Amino acid sequence: MVNAFARGAEEAGHEVKIIHVTPLNVRGCLGCDYCRNVEKGICCQKDDMQKINPEILASDMIVFASPIYYFTLSAQLQAVIHRTYAIDIPENVRKTALIMSSGSQFVYGPAITQYYQSIVEYWGVENAGIFTANGKQNKSEEKREELYRFGKSL
Ligand SMILES: Cc1cc2nc3c(=O)[nH]c(=O)nc-3n(C[C@H](O)[C@H](O)[C@H](O)COP(=O)(O)O)c2cc1C
Repeated sequence: MVNAFARGAEEAGHEVKIIHVTPLNVRGCLGCDYCRNVEKGICCQKDDMQKINPEILASDMIVFASPIYYFTLSAQLQAVIHRTYAIDIPENVRKTALIMSSGSQFVYGPAITQYYQSIVEYWGVENAGIFTANGKQNKSEEKREELYRFGKSL
């Protein structure tokens, strides 16, 4: 579904970079405030987040995609979101979107609340769309088409 979105967005003339966060080494935020009090915008933890934060700062749109684990976003994506604390609000980002897959229906409430409060409202960006696929819908032709069209509409 992410690839279908990317294909549509590229066909609409956008440059898309997909970052698979699961295989990366991104530890949880320590809340030490090094990034606020010692070196502004720089995290004291030297791991793969050093590569992701510059990509976020260079982007005008971020699309978050995750399976639902225990009614919320994956721990790997959560860690990435928490570690944006170092850069705080990325000034170039104007729009965001959220793509989620799950085993069951009606399981998206906590993830959508987190996305809205910690990303859309905190960053002050436009929510361009929220997409879900549960059970057999996951990776289906219908959902891939929906995501392709979304990318193409941007
Ligand atoms: C650790 C774990 C927790 C899960 N928790 C939920 C859940 O709370 N609700 C749900 O509907 N599905 C849950 N699932 C199922 C996944 O959300 C589902 O298989 C998802 O479609 C996988 O997406 P993917 O094929 O993109 O990896 C869970 C799966 C795993 C492995």
